Amino acid sequence: MGKLSPRITPVSDAVATRGEGVWLETTDGRRYLDFTAGIGVTSTGHAHPKVVEAVREQAGRILHSHYNVVQHAPMHELTERLADKMPAGLDTLFYSTAGTEAVESAMRMARQYTQRPRIIAMQGGYHGRTVGSAALTTSGTAFHAGLQPLMPGVAFAPFPHAYRYGWDAKATTEFCLQELDHLLATQSSPADTAAILVEPILGEGGYVPATDGFLEGLRERCDAHGMLLIMDEVQSGVGRTGRFWGHQHHDVVPDMIVTAKGLASGVPISAVAASFEVMDGAWAGSQGGTYGGNALACAAALATLDVIEEEGLMDNAARRGEQLQARLRSLAGEHASIGDVRGRGLMVGLELSDEDGNPAPSVAGAVHRAAEERGLLLLMCGPYKNVIRFVPGLVVDESEIDRAADIVAEAFDTVGDA
Ligand SMILES: Cc1ncc(COP(=O)(O)O)c(C=O)c1O
Repeated sequence: MGKLSPRITPVSDAVATRGEGVWLETTDGRRYLDFTAGIGVTSTGHAHPKVVEAVREQAGRILHSHYNVVQHAPMHELTERLADKMPAGLDTLFYSTAGTEAVESAMRMARQYTQRPRIIAMQGGYHGRTVGSAALTTSGTAFHAGLQPLMPGVAFAPFPHAYRYGWDAKATTEFCLQELDHLLATQSSPADTAAILVEPILGEGGYVPATDGFLEGLRERCDAHGMLLIMDEVQSGVGRTGRFWGHQHHDVVPDMIVTAKGLASGVPISAVAASFEVMDGAWAGSQGGTYGGNALACAAALATLDVIEEEGLMDNAARRGEQLQARLRSLAGEHASIGDVRGRGLMVGLELSDEDGNPAPSVAGAVHRAAEERGLLLLMCGPYKNVIRFVPGLVVDESEIDRAADIVAEAFDTVGDA
């Protein structure tokens, strides 16, 4: 009998048969409110009719044609449409399949363009599981344990996780930028450093939005030293935070944007955007990959962009996110174990701590299980697995947010705070 690897360990035992919007039906006949969205992927909800129709139609025309052999129309159209969503100047795109591939492409391009070897990434960042991306990842040791030696030439700067430091946002920002300057003086010489890589909101690392001024501080240092600023928007992009890109909550323009996940509502595609000059700095033969910019995925991405615009999903993400955070904040008033509620749009985290402020993964796990028993699927994140994350499809409506918040409240009532 065939078996899945025992290391694939789903957070839920439910087996999905059908999805619609933010709902999933399972083999045991249950219906779940899905606030996981396949880890932030099904941006337009499960099986949005317009996305399904686009995939169906494209499947009847061309499933695949390799971009280094014969290109296809949906990829050209997507390139136009995505360039319109980018900050001015980042109009040149390269496609791949998974987020980790796009991160590796961005890193390789930065090294080739600047002719410098080193990369600075953030403490707590997550960028993927292939060797290069794993070497840039510090959201937990599991992502690179047993894979050593990793790619050398990486240094990690602190990310402004104000709750963890126990300081206010301003003091945390100042500290982190000061430490970055120290790192540039002691570990990663600017003359050797190709790029700074950052998520505008730590994803796997615990749903921590960058503080005001932090990304701007990175930009200043990149400008001063000729380093590139690479924004990993794999989880935070494509409308999820209430703006098209997560970094657009800040006054900053990156040199590269990496996107994937929600871009095609569940059909695998990833992309890196840069200026033509930076993209042209990539060496001949350095960009390829069998499935990059796959025709089905491009068709799904085009339909996803249409749906986001036509249904006002960015605005919905902003409003539903505020609604959810307000409900969770009022719950925090009743439960001492809720240490922090944070996020942007529909990327919301609830951090659980004990009475001394230490991570409380057991409470988080118990609440998570109790919510699932009541029909709500949630995810965890953070290095200590004590942050419950809420990342539903952007189509979630007001009553579904209320239902999810009610379930979480019931789960806390059952589990208690310890
Ligand atoms: C910010 C970020 N970057 C990169 C990745 C890697 O993407 P993928 O799993 O598609 O390789 C992820 C996945 O969770 C992510 O959240």
